[in-house]
Amino acid sequence: KTIDSLGELRGKRVLVRADLNVPLDGTTITDDGRIRAALPTLTRLVEAGARVAVISHLGRPKGAPEEKYSLRPVVGRLGELLGQDVAFATDTVGSSAQETVAGLADGQVAVLENLRFNPGETAKTDEERLAFAQELAALGDAFVSDGFGVVHRKQASVYELATLLPAAAGELVLREVESLRKVTDEPERPFVVVLGGAKVADKLGVIDSLLGKADRILIGGGMAYTFQKALGHEVGQSLLDESKLDVVTEYMERAKANGVELVLPVDTVVAPEFSADAAPTTVAVDQIPADQEGMDIGPETSKLFGEKISDAATVFWNGPMGVFEFPTFAAGTTAVAEVLSKAPGYTVVGGGDSAAAVRNLGFDESLFDHISTGGGASLELIEGKELPGISILEEDAK
Ligand code: 3PG
Repeated sequence: KTIDSLGELRGKRVLVRADLNVPLDGTTITDDGRIRAALPTLTRLVEAGARVAVISHLGRPKGAPEEKYSLRPVVGRLGELLGQDVAFATDTVGSSAQETVAGLADGQVAVLENLRFNPGETAKTDEERLAFAQELAALGDAFVSDGFGVVHRKQASVYELATLLPAAAGELVLREVESLRKVTDEPERPFVVVLGGAKVADKLGVIDSLLGKADRILIGGGMAYTFQKALGHEVGQSLLDESKLDVVTEYMERAKANGVELVLPVDTVVAPEFSADAAPTTVAVDQIPADQEGMDIGPETSKLFGEKISDAATVFWNGPMGVFEFPTFAAGTTAVAEVLSKAPGYTVVGGGDSAAAVRNLGFDESLFDHISTGGGASLELIEGKELPGISILEEDAK
């Protein structure tokens, strides 16, 4: 169901579940990508004369208010982008929220305080989540689900709320699902997947499902060292998940059996400590000194990955190639972003970190076909898992 299905919206109170979970340095937003991604839906509702209450989480507070997770810093930026003064309620369903929503004029927008300050949002039992969703539902006449980054969570504002009000998918959710399904359903070939990031455990599901689909899987970042160790190389102080050595060994065997090219780094940039000014040295992957840790893929690997990406008809990239937050160790991530930005195929960047990397390293977003706002959500969609926040909208549509 799309926003059209909600009918005339002038004067209606519309609750919009957005994902305004932006990275903050104190109260400074370091990447506003998720706020900008919420604009198509919000602008559309404003133009339709709806009274818009935006609900979102930020970080992972444990069901009670914590100042560092307040959504207040987001309000100013949202107002600038929307070109209107955005109101802010200091609670989510209490008197501040009720008064703020009641005070909205047609076409006006308010942000309600962090959903996760309420234990019902992420409660384990259906009853508790439903009870909180009922309090939320009392604030609106209709519900628009547009927080793509959170659609893989069965939480009150994502799932139960959609059962209580006329509900529709927002513009961002529609665009995300359409773009990511282009990658999963019948991708044009060669289909190349680039995976990075620190934790191999986070990517096992996606590798598992892609071993039957992708033509090539390139693995960099901290997760690559578990593969290197499984191949018998010493990885020094690099990130390593000993408990996954058997799984990755099985994946490497399955890749061979399925004719999927699994490409691992051939060189790596190491340093004696995890810090921005640690002295970098480039070594072959089987020459990592015992007292050093891997911080980035090396230049030979960047070149190799570039060759493996440039002829792709479809590319999906999730996870940085190294510690890109430190300029000395950003070269690998920059190189991958660079080839992707020039690749003639359909290019999708998934995930919070890789999306932030692309923007923070200065790449123009328009050089990529799609930059997802979802980390876990985009991976689970690629994996083919059912996403509660999407299926509830589809069920409702039925
Ligand atoms: C994200 O950052 O991936 C989304 O905002 C979801 O956050 P969560 O992992 O805390 O549910």
